[in-house]
Amino acid sequence: MGKVIRTKVKDLLKLTPGQEVLAKGWVRTKRGNKNVAFIALNDGSTINNIQVVADVAGFDEETLKRITTGACIAVRGDLVESLGGGQSVEIQARSIEIYGEADPNTYPLQKKGHTLEFLRTIAHLRPRTNTFGAVLRIRHAMAFAIHKYFNDKGFVYLHTPIITASDCEGAGEMFQVTTLDLNNPPRLENGGIDYAQDFFGRQTSLTVSGQLEGELGAMALGEIYTFGPTFRAENSNTPRHLAEFWMIEPEMAFYEIEDNMDLAEDFIKSLVRYALENCMDDLKFLNDMFDKELIARLESVVKTEFVRLTYTEGIRILENSGEKFEFPVGWGVDLQSEHERYLVEKHFGRPVIMTDYPKDIKAFYMKQNEDGKTVRGMDVLFPKIGEIIGGSERESSLEKLEARINELGMSHETLEWYLDTRRFGSAPHSGFGLGFERLLLFVTGMGNIRDVIPFPRTPKNAEF
Ligand code: 4AD
Ligand code: MG
Repeated sequence: MGKVIRTKVKDLLKLTPGQEVLAKGWVRTKRGNKNVAFIALNDGSTINNIQVVADVAGFDEETLKRITTGACIAVRGDLVESLGGGQSVEIQARSIEIYGEADPNTYPLQKKGHTLEFLRTIAHLRPRTNTFGAVLRIRHAMAFAIHKYFNDKGFVYLHTPIITASDCEGAGEMFQVTTLDLNNPPRLENGGIDYAQDFFGRQTSLTVSGQLEGELGAMALGEIYTFGPTFRAENSNTPRHLAEFWMIEPEMAFYEIEDNMDLAEDFIKSLVRYALENCMDDLKFLNDMFDKELIARLESVVKTEFVRLTYTEGIRILENSGEKFEFPVGWGVDLQSEHERYLVEKHFGRPVIMTDYPKDIKAFYMKQNEDGKTVRGMDVLFPKIGEIIGGSERESSLEKLEARINELGMSHETLEWYLDTRRFGSAPHSGFGLGFERLLLFVTGMGNIRDVIPFPRTPKNAEF
């Protein structure tokens, strides 16, 4: 008999019966009677299980007893047509090897229907559930689709640093990086900490965004994108905020704000389309289990033209809505998620790209409008999520940019290199940042951002 190589469950389910196969995976359930045992086996390659049928007479009783939910096994047998409903083929087992047992008294994933909250406490095991298998496969597919989208368009993937000395968003939400002894740091004469003695010879932090370095890339390579982890020490315990999240940031020379909006809209639609075309098994599962309108919503977004309106128009709609908001609205306020969702879900019933925000609620780098009050920023607002993308056309005039930096009292010293892009060969350019986990909230229909990343980092939580 020739060597049989392992076939993944996803591929087994497509094979024609009548051949010898080898499957390896984790037992989801075992049931049966005195004569026969049915084992549902999953190896993570698909949401679907392969059914293994073992005639009790052909196996040692002790072996069968050790095959319990969570155990890892290798099964050799014949792929046969399945008589039971629910699957087209199954494995008639000839031999079963047990790689690892899972004690039924202590394995936490015994029964179905654990709450998502409970599963967060066992994040090291939750990838073994159907739900997290589906979410993590979709997460992978979306990461792949993002690289494919930009590669097809000729964008260059630029790796921007994770440790940085500048605060791109200017919000002061940085995690410090230091090797100084926090119990006894070197001091300056004025009592401040002497960062000259720190590892990098200056104060450094984890990046909140790769944009500033991304702009340097765009001013040389034309069109770039970053896709990496970003960090925000923002104390928001909400279903939409993480302290460590992944962001995709395209940055393009010669794009004005309209071009930027066109790209953002096309980008998101193409990702959703990719999910519909490549992740249907997993989407169907999530649709049935958590959100009966998920697939319909995804299909509708692909077909819908996003609304485009200015902040000023948006505020007017909110003021005239007659709605009682927790946070009152008025020109100049930063929109809260309740306002964004009112516009998207109730007023327009489709995604909205909002532009031209008051300069005081946006970052220093955004292109200033003629009115002296607003900047050419754009946020893409989505149903159930609120802000999914933030971006802008960038201020390309050195003079105006420096004036804004002074106005905000920011340090020039850590930004000199950035200002060089405006000193030498400056050009109109634009970009945006898509929060990867916010995209995944939308595509999977999950309600909490902690459930679309394998190991969430949030205030007071960095386990695993
Ligand atoms: O709007 P933000 O802060 O924009 C920037 O960082 C720009 N530098 C992007 C650019 O123009 N290149 O963040 C961009 C997106 C948000 O729209 C949101 O989707 C996501 O990043 N985001 C978060 N996602 C999860 N947890 C958080 N704490 C997030 N903060 C922002
Ligand atoms: Mg933003």
